[in-house]
Amino acid sequence: MLIFACFTFYLFFRTPAAGAHRQQIVHHDPVSPSYVKKIVAVGDLHGDLRNAQKVLRMSGVIDSFGDWSGEVDVLVQTGDIIDRGDDTISLFRYMDTLRGQAGAMGGEVLSMMGNHEWMNVIGCRYVLPSEIKTFGSVQARQRALSSQGWLGSTWWSNYTLTTRLPLHPMLGPPNTDYSPLSSIPSSISHSALSFVHGGLSPSFSSLTPYPSRPNAVARSLLHKLLTRHPSPLPHPPNPYPGLPPDATEEEHELYGGDGPLWYRGWALGTEREVCGHVDDVLEKIGARRLIMGHTPTFTNIVSRCDGKIIIIDTGISHAYGGVLSALAIHYTLTPNSTTYDFESGTQEYIEREVVSAVYEWKNEVLLDDRRAVRGWWEGWD
Ligand SMILES: *[C@@H]1O[C@H](CO)[C@@H](O)[C@H](O)[C@H]1NC(C)=O
Ligand SMILES: *[C@@H]1O[C@H](CO)[C@@H](O)[C@H](O)[C@H]1NC(C)=O
Repeated sequence: MLIFACFTFYLFFRTPAAGAHRQQIVHHDPVSPSYVKKIVAVGDLHGDLRNAQKVLRMSGVIDSFGDWSGEVDVLVQTGDIIDRGDDTISLFRYMDTLRGQAGAMGGEVLSMMGNHEWMNVIGCRYVLPSEIKTFGSVQARQRALSSQGWLGSTWWSNYTLTTRLPLHPMLGPPNTDYSPLSSIPSSISHSALSFVHGGLSPSFSSLTPYPSRPNAVARSLLHKLLTRHPSPLPHPPNPYPGLPPDATEEEHELYGGDGPLWYRGWALGTEREVCGHVDDVLEKIGARRLIMGHTPTFTNIVSRCDGKIIIIDTGISHAYGGVLSALAIHYTLTPNSTTYDFESGTQEYIEREVVSAVYEWKNEVLLDDRRAVRGWWEGWD
């Protein structure tokens, strides 16, 4: 309290005389956040390790040796690491290396499978002959992609369809469920981000509880695909194998054109259409923003409806030649002790999200969202 008063006093007398330094002084925040979380999200990488590492380096996720830097708490990758380039093996291995390094330093890597990973599991693909060579042969590649293979097993244990990432520390670890039927809406209940490859369409019927239900449908389908025996020969030139005969209606919907892997509505719909429907989805899944890849804009990250929809595929791979980009979210929770209420034992906190697009030569702040929330949340470390 005294420190705060002194600071105000200092500002008051200092400002008129300190013209040139004014901004610096005013921007200095007298109260420091009691909780900070830094998140970086990266979209489609398509077989290009070099560009992937550039993006992770420029967003502070890795250091100059390519190792987890510890500067960021969570890295999210929204799928489509495979196809259109040769670096399938090195990229997936690298993601697991980062996952291990992050875990050892208290960080996290959250990975999702995109429609291209799924196409490869199904058996149809856009594979380059040079990429097959990196596996040795078509058969060796098939084996790696099965439930016994290294790639199939890391997809099974380290990848999901979609992620709910809480921002507020009281909401629990990544992928804590929100259900419109059993969760109690509050000022912080939707303080979370949603990630998926294509998009969670308003018509998708396996949405909640989110994310456990859609993830469970995906897991059930993935299990059927990874354990097919014999695994179907690659299409083309062989016929399209399709989903297994015992795939359920839910599983067909999941992999369908309006399912989370392929949907492009949030990216391509008119402003009126998307902004009119997005609140309904966000409310159901307990999140503030839908963040996704899949539909590229080669020049920039796209933010729609005041950042409720953010599309992060900028064609990072040399196969597309788009700009290198990452999405950075800097979340802070700052207590305001002047608002302490003795009766309830609560105070106000300023919850702030600064969401920026990070490019090779510049950072662009897409939104700086602040809201006051009341509670008592100290000592969570
Ligand atoms: C999952 O990722 C970890 C790194 O955290 C890695 O060590 C492990 O091998 C991966 N799991 C599988 C089954 O590949
Ligand atoms: C703290 O709360 C007081 C009373 O509501 C308000 O006037 C002040 O601006 C707040 N301070 C910050 C840093 O938000």
